[in-house]
Amino acid sequence: MSDRKITIILATLFMAVAVAAIAAVYVWREDGGGIARIGGAFTLVDHTGAERSEADFRGRHALIYFGYSFCPDVCPTALADMLIALDELGPDAARVQPLFITIDPDRDTPAVLKDYVANFHPRLVGLSGSPDQVSKAARVYRVYYARVEDPEAGENYLMDHSSVIYLMDPDGRYLTHFSHGTAPQTMAKRLRELVS
Ligand code: NI
Repeated sequence: MSDRKITIILATLFMAVAVAAIAAVYVWREDGGGIARIGGAFTLVDHTGAERSEADFRGRHALIYFGYSFCPDVCPTALADMLIALDELGPDAARVQPLFITIDPDRDTPAVLKDYVANFHPRLVGLSGSPDQVSKAARVYRVYYARVEDPEAGENYLMDHSSVIYLMDPDGRYLTHFSHGTAPQTMAKRLRELVS
């Protein structure tokens, strides 16, 4: 074979590998390995005891955080940061609904959440539900949670959970997320770009 033929064969192989790699990345994203499919339908119960579905929150952006009221520091920090960022928006904050969805429905009854959210923000809505409703909601937002096994903890058990703040658009579609520890000012800057 001539060098020229070898070059053509190698170039063709290279192209084929490149095309396969790009296709694999698309499949991975579509499969949910990426960020393409965060969010979707849920049915939960809010802190006043009313049943609420995901569709009830359309028409505004939503900032969504999954956690639990008994959480000693991770959830309070993330929620406080999220709500500081929201308030930084000034009048535009009205375009955003902040939501706190519990991953500990056994302890976080609507009554418990009512007191909890009131401590954070007058507009924060707390959502709980049956263990099954909560598990389905967490699944559509790709949130991980699990009870920490500790025989001595009793009713004071802790929960392991993802700590991510999601920003959804007014149609309930994923826009972006903020990882734990994102400074409120950084969040506010991004929110202003996406919400205003
Ligand atoms: Ni927490």
